[in-house]
Amino acid sequence: MRGRKVLRPQEVADPTGAPDGVSDGGSLLSVTGVTKSFGGIAAVRDVNFTVESGESVGLVGPNGAGKTTLFNCICGQLRPERGTVELGGTALGRLPTFQRARLGIGRTYQRVEVFTDMTVAEHLLVAERARCTGGQLWRDLCNRSHPTPAELKRVAEVLDLIGIGDRADTPVSALGLGSCRLVELARALVADPVLLLADEPSSGLDVRETQELANVLRTLQRERGMAVLLVEHDLHMVAQVVDRVVVMDLGTVIAHGAFDEVMADSTVRHAYLGTSG
Ligand SMILES: Nc1ncnc2c1ncn2[C@@H]1O[C@H](COP(=O)(O)OP(=O)(O)OP(=O)(O)O)[C@@H](O)[C@H]1O
Ligand SMILES: [Mg+2]
Repeated sequence: MRGRKVLRPQEVADPTGAPDGVSDGGSLLSVTGVTKSFGGIAAVRDVNFTVESGESVGLVGPNGAGKTTLFNCICGQLRPERGTVELGGTALGRLPTFQRARLGIGRTYQRVEVFTDMTVAEHLLVAERARCTGGQLWRDLCNRSHPTPAELKRVAEVLDLIGIGDRADTPVSALGLGSCRLVELARALVADPVLLLADEPSSGLDVRETQELANVLRTLQRERGMAVLLVEHDLHMVAQVVDRVVVMDLGTVIAHGAFDEVMADSTVRHAYLGTSG
């Protein structure tokens, strides 16, 4: 672990020019002052943090802390009332989700979103077609197009990368939850994202599946240079996958820094355990 100190919110309020893991303007992802409310209640309040290119960062916090809401603001599913999200120094503004995906933001969802009648490979083919299509999707809807050799090659590459190439032709309905999560991950990876947002990817997985997923994420980050922002309640997994963590509670960032130091912090322990001990 790198020796970063735990920073309090007032210390991270200015995401530029501040020390210790906070942006100097050259970050891959910059979240600045992001605020999103539902019915007058702030689910995310003035959140600031950055992710550097090729870095793996954990976004942790108790239930209802605002993690998924923040993901939705980054991906464009939700529009924050205040604040900016920048990718590679470019403000994403009102860009819709699919354009953010084309810029390199990939995502997996907290609740598995798969189509049970489709095979593993078909899930990836749809994602690849959606990424590259020049307006051919209508043909798919009419069953009038076939995968190209280039599409099949790309799909096979990604399936092999995460170790489920042998299940390419298996209908997703025949898979367990662990494999479905890998299909979701593979679908996000087809677009070769520069930044992957993974929302509780180990939810519902057993210990072995969780370990495999952690290995895949770490390998993607270290060998492919893909930045990862990982929301996860399994702190053992977080410790294996990330370089540092950002902790949220009640919509705000309460601390960030190296995993061990942050988790030893009394404010963080209080948020998680209701105790400062
Ligand atoms: N669409 C919505 N409408 C109203 N309130 C919402 C909506 N989405 C989230 N919230 C509320 O915003 C707060 C933050 O929710 P969010 O799902 O972002 O938390 P989370 O940190 O992802 O929690 P968990 O760890 O349980 O997934 C919660 O109080 C939640 O009830
Ligand atoms: Mg959530």
